[in-house]
Amino acid sequence: MGSTVSIIVRIRNLTNQDITATTVYDVDSFDFGATLRPDRVFAGAAIPSGSCLERTIELNSIASNCPFAVKMSFRNGATDAFKVNAKCAYDGTDPNFRHLVKSHHVFCKKSAGSRILEIVVQHTEAQMRNQRAEQLNREGDALLAAGRYHEASIKLLEAAQKANQDDTKAAIRRTRLQLDGAKGSDVDKRAEGLNDEGMQLLKENKYQRAIGKFDEGLKIAKNVYTVSLIEYNLRTVRDAKANQDAKKLNQEGLLLKKNNQNETALQKFDEALRIAIDPTLVNSIKINKADVLNIEGRTALESAWSAETSLPDRTEEAIHQFAKAKFLFEQAESLRHNPECRNDLDIVNIKVEGNKFFNAALQLESEGSSLVDKSVKSESSADCKMAREKYQEAWNNYKEAKKKFEEGLKKGDVKFELSLTATNEALHGIQNVLNELEKAELEIALKRADVVNKRGAAIGITVICASFVSPAFRKFCLPYIPATKTQIDNVLIALAGRQGRLLDVGSGDGRIVLGSTVDAFNIFTKMAKNHFEAHGVELNFWLVMYSRLNALTKGLGHKTEFHRGDLWKFHVGRYDNIVIFGVEQMMADLERKFELECKSNCHVVACRFPLPNKTPIRTVGHGVDTVWVYILNNHREPL
Ligand SMILES: C[S@@+](CC[C@H](N)C(=O)[O-])C[C@H]1O[C@@H](n2cnc3c(N)ncnc32)[C@H](O)[C@@H]1O
Repeated sequence: MGSTVSIIVRIRNLTNQDITATTVYDVDSFDFGATLRPDRVFAGAAIPSGSCLERTIELNSIASNCPFAVKMSFRNGATDAFKVNAKCAYDGTDPNFRHLVKSHHVFCKKSAGSRILEIVVQHTEAQMRNQRAEQLNREGDALLAAGRYHEASIKLLEAAQKANQDDTKAAIRRTRLQLDGAKGSDVDKRAEGLNDEGMQLLKENKYQRAIGKFDEGLKIAKNVYTVSLIEYNLRTVRDAKANQDAKKLNQEGLLLKKNNQNETALQKFDEALRIAIDPTLVNSIKINKADVLNIEGRTALESAWSAETSLPDRTEEAIHQFAKAKFLFEQAESLRHNPECRNDLDIVNIKVEGNKFFNAALQLESEGSSLVDKSVKSESSADCKMAREKYQEAWNNYKEAKKKFEEGLKKGDVKFELSLTATNEALHGIQNVLNELEKAELEIALKRADVVNKRGAAIGITVICASFVSPAFRKFCLPYIPATKTQIDNVLIALAGRQGRLLDVGSGDGRIVLGSTVDAFNIFTKMAKNHFEAHGVELNFWLVMYSRLNALTKGLGHKTEFHRGDLWKFHVGRYDNIVIFGVEQMMADLERKFELECKSNCHVVACRFPLPNKTPIRTVGHGVDTVWVYILNNHREPL
């Protein structure tokens, strides 16, 4: 033998089992020194759990490989064996490590230049899981001993899911059998069989069939363990199935959205959200639902804006659509924040708020108008004061509405311009009313009714009417242009021989209404007498007031009624005769209204502008004073 070189071999036991003996074999005398040979230095050595054993061995310096094999016997009967080339620790040749008998995870480490060859023995991952199962089984056992059966059952269930060694599985089963206080009944074996079939189906994504198996198993399972196991698996498969169904509904929703069937798409998303469990899936359904809500919200918003500015009146629809848009945007925001839609929501909120003030103001204005009527009759300054307070309140509300609409305009939505114009006009008009009420001390003015009668038309009416505009959101309104004497004569000729109820639509200062009840004009005395019960509907409350005063002073209060209101909202179905002196743009809409509402054989007399689609039965006069007479025969039941 030539010269020898020394290296250190170290075996590190990181398992929780003692190595009770090591046996070294396959040692060639040529490769090692005479005394410090692996089989001599390690012979029979024990390596307790968590410690390491280190030995110096001598290698023949001219041997190219110095292999030796070690068998390690563990206290629990497990064995590992490996073979390694010791020369690697000296000259860095290939350790040629081979794990011959495997119970644990065994590998070799060689740090460069250290001349130490280290063999590490540790548990495999499966062993670690199994150890955890053993631990859980012990805990289950303790709980069983303490009579805490339910907790014990949960421990054993977890242990069974982790165990991968037969003896551990058997130990768990023993504990379980003890827990059930039985040797394992046939039905439970059958139930477990069904559970296994269910698990297989679950793996194949056949959820419905798996649920069937688990349900069947649950029906027959008797022992607590089997029941818990199947219930646990049933929950798992139900969750998987719910997610699968939700995914399908989500897809269907998306398809419907693509086909613009948004309402049904929303139903699908709602259904999907009700059942989905997976948080990522839930989130993506929420995003899809929010998208559709936003689309629908925008549609509602568009319809609201257009309904608000259309004729005939669609205010109710506009209110409904704004509320709908608000509801949809709010829902969308709660699901997913989106700056663009947040802006739409802000706009709707501003508009809805503004409209609330605006409508409250309209209501107050109308209450104020009734109070003015009351004060006309009572001639009480207290009533007059109350009227002024109402108008003041209306003014405050219009002011708030104005703030809102300005806010909307600042947000860049030009649609607020119209609302703002209407509000400004209303404010301007009410300001005039307030001034008049204050200045003239209405009740004093009323006491001098005859003076008003003589001068009112010239002063009060023309001045106020010029500033007192039509209600908000109307595209066009009737200007106050009183009928000429010739025109009134023509109307009376047109109505010759007629009787019953008469309505002047947009009655102005009431001259047609009053004229139709008495023979106040020359021509009238020549014609058959027209003793109508005559009504007027008029938006401008000053004109209404003036008409009422005029009727009173002429002693015609009992034969006339003057309603303050919007002609588009005033039903004309109870009248036998209707007179209209309007503007050309509104004649088509009026014709439609008459067709819808007039009772059969109602005579409509149109002044200056004819009804565009109907043929008149008669035309009286010429030029600007022409009147056209129509018969409405729509066979409606009289109201
Ligand atoms: C051309 S004047 C006719 C007045 C009266 N009929 C006459 O012949 O002397 C039209 C009237 O309709 C009123 N008016 C305008 N829009 C209205 C509406 N939406 N509802 C009721 N009256 C309205 C105006 O204030 C005005 O007094």
